[in-house]
Amino acid sequence: MEKILITGATGNVGLSTLKLLHGRQYSDIEVVAAVRDIERAKHIEGIADCNFCHFEFDEPATYDKALEGVTKIVLIRPNQVSDVSRYIFPFLAKAEKLGVNQIVFVSIVGAERNRIFANHRTESHFKKLSIPVTILHSSLYMQNLSTFHRHDIQDHDKINIPAGHGLVNYIDVRDVAEVIDMVLTNPIHLHQTYEICGPESLDFYQIAKLFSDELGHEIKYTRPSTIRFVRQKLLEKRQLLYVLTLSLLYSAARNGKMNYTNDIFRTITGHNPRNLADFIHEFSACWIKSETTNKPEKLKKRRLRRLL
Ligand SMILES: NC(=O)c1ccc[n+]([C@@H]2O[C@H](COP(=O)([O-])OP(=O)(O)OC[C@H]3O[C@@H](n4cnc5c(N)ncnc54)[C@H](OP(=O)(O)O)[C@@H]3O)[C@@H](O)[C@H]2O)c1
Repeated sequence: MEKILITGATGNVGLSTLKLLHGRQYSDIEVVAAVRDIERAKHIEGIADCNFCHFEFDEPATYDKALEGVTKIVLIRPNQVSDVSRYIFPFLAKAEKLGVNQIVFVSIVGAERNRIFANHRTESHFKKLSIPVTILHSSLYMQNLSTFHRHDIQDHDKINIPAGHGLVNYIDVRDVAEVIDMVLTNPIHLHQTYEICGPESLDFYQIAKLFSDELGHEIKYTRPSTIRFVRQKLLEKRQLLYVLTLSLLYSAARNGKMNYTNDIFRTITGHNPRNLADFIHEFSACWIKSETTNKPEKLKKRRLRRLL
């Protein structure tokens, strides 16, 4: 009997993975969601009857109980947890000591090249461990457009991303989850690193057109500079580290480094990944203008912006 622990199980990719593995009802696999707040997690649609355990990377006292009987870990590093030597490595040391036999690490495209990324440091650290690791270098998540960038599209009819004319490849986190399922259940994927991506590379003018066509009004790509993007996101009180990480990724896109596609997803799963147009269609309700815009808040932000 395998016991799979999923960290970050209430986030983008973790939640999709949890739902998929839970839905598979494998008779020989127990799936446990490692979450910070079990009561809150139980109220998330579709996972109320999953197994949960309390776990926090920055609370080492939670590690032992979470790892009890665990044989495999889907390791999703929350963006907030960047001090990996303090919070990820000790967790991995415990996992190694307790005999975990596979880690599937959900990483990001380019992490192996970029020392600044916390995922890079984590990947380097795996070389010191005896646990077999499968690394997934995933392209950008489509879900960034329905979460982090949603407000710009929904309320301001614009895509505010500093990627110039560069092309990007987006993948749906449900497809990442499917790859995770495959690599967990077939030993040929141990010790492998896969660059997984969606079916096409597009620039943000093309992506804005997909939104305009779907929503029935113009969504403009504003092509901001990186500085402007960072300033605006900080005004919106977004987390600095995450904004800087995204800025780096969009700079890479501007410099042509996110313009790629490959067949790896198809090779692993046997079918094509979802495309962005279908994603935008499926979740179009997300970007429909909200009836109640908070006008005083908007005015306050506008004034602040003038001051900067
Ligand atoms: N965004 C992209 O385009 C992209 C692309 C490829 C790879 N990635 C990689 O994906 C990872 C992030 O995944 P995601 O987008 O699914 O994350 P996410 O949506 O931001 O979710 C983060 C998850 O981590 C949990 N969490 C936060 N702080 C925690 C802590 N101290 N201890 C334990 N759990 C904690 C959160 O739980 P709560 O519900 O309690 O907050 C949540 O479940 C990163 O490593 C990133 O490099 C991202």
